[in-house]
Amino acid sequence: MAEAICLFTKGTIIIKSPKKSPIFLRMIVLVFAMVCGVYICSVCLNQTNFGTTSKLLNVEINKRHCCDYEVDRSQTPYAHYPKPETFSRAECACNPVRYFAIFSMQRSGSGWFETLLNSHTNVSSNGEIFSVKERRNNVTSILTTLDRVYNLDWFTSASKNQCSAAVGFKWMLNQGLMENHKEIVEYFNNRGVSVIFLFRRNLLRRMVSVLANSFDRYAKLLNGTHKSHVHSLEEADTLSRYKPVIDLSSLVTDLKQMDQRVSEALEYFSSTRHIRLYYEDLVKNRTKLVDVQDFLRLPQMELTSRQVKIHKGPLLEHIKNWDDVNKALKGTMYEKFLHYNDY
Ligand SMILES: *[C@@H]1O[C@H](CO)[C@@H](O)[C@H](O)[C@H]1NC(C)=O
Ligand SMILES: *[C@@H]1O[C@H](CO)[C@@H](O)[C@H](O)[C@H]1NC(C)=O
Ligand SMILES: *[C@@H]1O[C@H](CO)[C@@H](O)[C@H](O)[C@H]1NC(C)=O
Ligand SMILES: *[C@@H]1O[C@H](CO)[C@@H](O)[C@H](O)[C@H]1NC(C)=O
Repeated sequence: MAEAICLFTKGTIIIKSPKKSPIFLRMIVLVFAMVCGVYICSVCLNQTNFGTTSKLLNVEINKRHCCDYEVDRSQTPYAHYPKPETFSRAECACNPVRYFAIFSMQRSGSGWFETLLNSHTNVSSNGEIFSVKERRNNVTSILTTLDRVYNLDWFTSASKNQCSAAVGFKWMLNQGLMENHKEIVEYFNNRGVSVIFLFRRNLLRRMVSVLANSFDRYAKLLNGTHKSHVHSLEEADTLSRYKPVIDLSSLVTDLKQMDQRVSEALEYFSSTRHIRLYYEDLVKNRTKLVDVQDFLRLPQMELTSRQVKIHKGPLLEHIKNWDDVNKALKGTMYEKFLHYNDY
């Protein structure tokens, strides 16, 4: 191919032999033509080789040039140019990548939020990677795992690999995050990792969801399969038919503990670059998703999720001992949870 192009650009050499010349003269012309062709070809090949080398060199220089931004941390501490060990970022090598982590608690809408994020062409949010205990055994294994994720060497179905512009995962507060907060804050601030706090305002609704989800773990209401998230109204309806009984003896203390855990998390990680989101706000106001994309410096896209909310409608429809719960919370600081009825 290269040779053909090369010969074409060089033009064609036409060698004519006189019609009535002796045979040996014709032979000489033929040999000359062959030698000439070989010569042209070899020159040509040399040139193509040189061409490719210089092109490669240019790419190398460009790459190094764009990746040098990383060194100037004061300018762009949150834009990264990772060099994965397992693949090449190819045409996206010079696109900056933002590192993030979603800090949340179970049953706070983080699964839904993550599917929304992952519907963006340039976001790889890799799920709850620290749900696996060995990865959070000690600080070393936590930091090693983080290194792999942020170097784009972590693979899940969510990985966009070469063209990721934001890479991260979901980290629940009870997955080694609070115990190792000092080292994690240090890592996040050194490596320029941004935090997305995602909490639920109504902790009583969260409690209902936690109880229903753990009930379904063994009840398996959907044709014998346990599901934490659903994609159809029928499935949501089936799951929400179960109404948990709330333990009144520990209700207020349990709510207080959840509340404190959230406050602690906000305090421990206050020095990181962060954004704070509430599930209820995301449900009501999709413009919040624009804030998230701005926070991660992503090109704006319409984000979508197939997930369907399980517990819709007033809370009183989802708690078996609703009257008692009402009495227990009256006059406490958690009374407000009884009145958020629409989410
Ligand atoms: C940390 O945890 C990893 C993974 O479980 C283990 O292989 C390693 O020995 C542990 N290191 C220390 C210092 O305890
Ligand atoms: C987003 O991904 C597309 C390919 O899917 C790529 O062309 C584009 O450059 C990426 N954008 C950023 C900001 O990385
Ligand atoms: C359960 O099985 C029935 C019958 O096979 C089917 O119609 C229904 O869609 C299934 N439901 C779920 C939630 O998978
Ligand atoms: C929706 O969210 C946007 C972005 O945070 C905010 O500016 C706007 O005021 C919100 N709208 C309502 C009705 O709360």
